[in-house]
Amino acid sequence: MELFSNESVNLKILRKRAYNMRWAEVPDDVIPLTAADSDFPVAPEIIEAICDYAKAGYFPYTPKLGFPEFRRSIANALKTRKNEDVPEDLILPIDSAARAMSIIARAFLKPGDEAIVFDPVDFLFKTSMEAAGAKIVLFPMKIKDGRIDFSDLEKYITPKTKMLGLCNPHNPLGMVYPMEDLEYLADLSNKYGFYIMNDEIWSDIVYSDAKFNSIVSLGAEKNQRTLSVYGFSKSFGIAGLRAGCIYCQNPALFEKIVETSEVLSTIGGISSLSQVAGMACLDKCYYWVEKFTAQMQKNRDYALERIEKMPLISCRKPDATFVLFPDIKATGMEAEELADFLLKKHQVAIVPGGKTFFGPGSDGHIRICLATSQDILKEGLDRIERGLREIAEAKK
Ligand SMILES: Cc1ncc(COP(=O)(O)O)c(C=O)c1O
Repeated sequence: MELFSNESVNLKILRKRAYNMRWAEVPDDVIPLTAADSDFPVAPEIIEAICDYAKAGYFPYTPKLGFPEFRRSIANALKTRKNEDVPEDLILPIDSAARAMSIIARAFLKPGDEAIVFDPVDFLFKTSMEAAGAKIVLFPMKIKDGRIDFSDLEKYITPKTKMLGLCNPHNPLGMVYPMEDLEYLADLSNKYGFYIMNDEIWSDIVYSDAKFNSIVSLGAEKNQRTLSVYGFSKSFGIAGLRAGCIYCQNPALFEKIVETSEVLSTIGGISSLSQVAGMACLDKCYYWVEKFTAQMQKNRDYALERIEKMPLISCRKPDATFVLFPDIKATGMEAEELADFLLKKHQVAIVPGGKTFFGPGSDGHIRICLATSQDILKEGLDRIERGLREIAEAKK
């Protein structure tokens, strides 16, 4: 069977296992194009690695800072895939990118600090920084000539600014950053002394018509205050294994990360099986990621073609990520209202924009996940189209 064929999506299993607004949480007649999680089974090498480890019958405590060979695999992948020079002893495997963000925020923010969060962006930036006591300062994203306009970013920086969240590639806009913008952000971080929470969880899902650049590739001097996050949920489809890591190029920052993570007391940490899976991903499965990304590119192009022909909706072409973020303001409805209408009347679930998930700047948008089979995507888009046509008719 082809890796990403219609037949490879097993709805019987997904309906039992896929939570977080997906198959197991919606009625059987609903198609969930919601949380950014794949409907495809993982690469066979991951299954094999987990089975081999499990068959040996022992699950003892693991090294507190992670398996040395896993840290080496991560360092190697960062270097070869993204030109990031990170010593393996400045990499901390941890149980998910979400946890990594929480640890970074708690390590470097305290009540009274300010943290700059792009608007819109994934809710985890705000949630993690707010939980650490920081006041969130939203930076409204304006797109100019296909790039994020940073010309007035400095206006949002005050003496209290201690952190800036960088989602690269950007979820939900699917944008990559030119090197000069990343250098500008790194220079600002050094000039004003704030930390950068650099989330690169989407860095493998970049389409052939775009190029990913990493701030980390600028080197240790520029990244004295950069803390980076990577996770295995998006590229390899193992969200339920909760696997990710934190890394940096400054040993003093790493010490603080380890202390805050509570791995030394075993309160924090990542399971042995998740590390084994993570190692298989990095050492053996990039061939799978390439094919998956190519399939997502086909899905992206198909979905954009469909959306172009629908009324009351328009969409920017993403460079990366497997989500679309169309503008639905022409419907005259709030995103939540449209999501509710599509779910109840047309049996398709999407994520509404608005402050819950992405910030107030995402009002008037919905997010559609593309990581499913072509048949399911087609049916999901058919349903969205029927819903929009019904609204357009009623407006006449
Ligand atoms: C930008 C971003 N960061 C972090 C995460 C969380 O990933 P994980 O499953 O590793 O916690 C997500 C998941 O959607 C994400 O989009």
